Amino acid sequence: MLTPTAARRILRRAFFCVALAATCTAAVAQSRGDPMRGAEKAAACVACHGLEGREPLPGMPALAGQQREFLETQLVLLREGMRDVPGMDGLLRKFNDQDLIDIAAFYSAAKPFTETGKRDAQRHAAGAAISRARACGSCHLPGYTGQRGIPRIVNQREDYLVATLKAYRDDRRTGFDTNMNALMYQVSDTDIAALAHYLAHQN
Ligand code: HEC
Ligand code: HEC
Repeated sequence: MLTPTAARRILRRAFFCVALAATCTAAVAQSRGDPMRGAEKAAACVACHGLEGREPLPGMPALAGQQREFLETQLVLLREGMRDVPGMDGLLRKFNDQDLIDIAAFYSAAKPFTETGKRDAQRHAAGAAISRARACGSCHLPGYTGQRGIPRIVNQREDYLVATLKAYRDDRRTGFDTNMNALMYQVSDTDIAALAHYLAHQN
């Protein structure tokens, strides 16, 4: 028997696939994103997400330099309400697929953000060991820059990394697939803190 939650998840997923397919088709039909147009549309986003020379607010992910395909996917998830973000409710509703593609083009072309917090050698080493053991670099690449639909996580804000890794673990965040939920299953708070610290402080 399917539980109501499981049924809802399957329905959401089916809907998401349709929405994503529409976006991809749109991407091909309407050409790739235009960073200049994206900059205008993203004007309101910079306050929270930052931009070159401007830090994202505490707890907010930096989007600058993020993988374009990953951004397109998350923007669709967010617009369709399949990823809940307090503070962003409805913000993306006015954007059509081409707008989201433009915003993704804009942010992915911006100079990447670098976490500025202080580095702790011991936690860094602990995080490095966990990352090696769990092969985080196999998908995110050894430099953690990400590729296509897999996000850049190198030098991301540490507080955001902690929060979002816990959200995957606790099944409060599901994305394009459930790889991250499975990977974070039963990882302790201490290990998550070490991983986030390590990833946020790469050189
Ligand atoms: C009031 C602050 C705020 C504003 C304004 C805002 N966001 Fe966000 N956004 C957030 C927060 C907080 C998260 C992460 C939440 C979470 O995962 O729990 C987020 C997540 C995202 C993500 C996912 C990033 C990732 O690495 O997973 C994208 C993409 C995004 N926002 C795009 C936008 C765009 C485009 C705009 C402007 C149209 C915008 N946001 C405006 C607060 C904001
Ligand atoms: C099998 C491939 C794979 C492996 C291995 C993997 N990831 Fe991921 N990761 C992904 C994908 C795909 C996403 C985007 C999922 C989504 O849509 O939410 C992601 C998302 C993330 C995010 C969210 C970034 C953001 O901006 O929102 C973080 C943080 C992350 N991974 C960290 C890790 C860590 C730490 C490890 C090792 C413990 C790891 N990943 C291992 C595929 C992988």
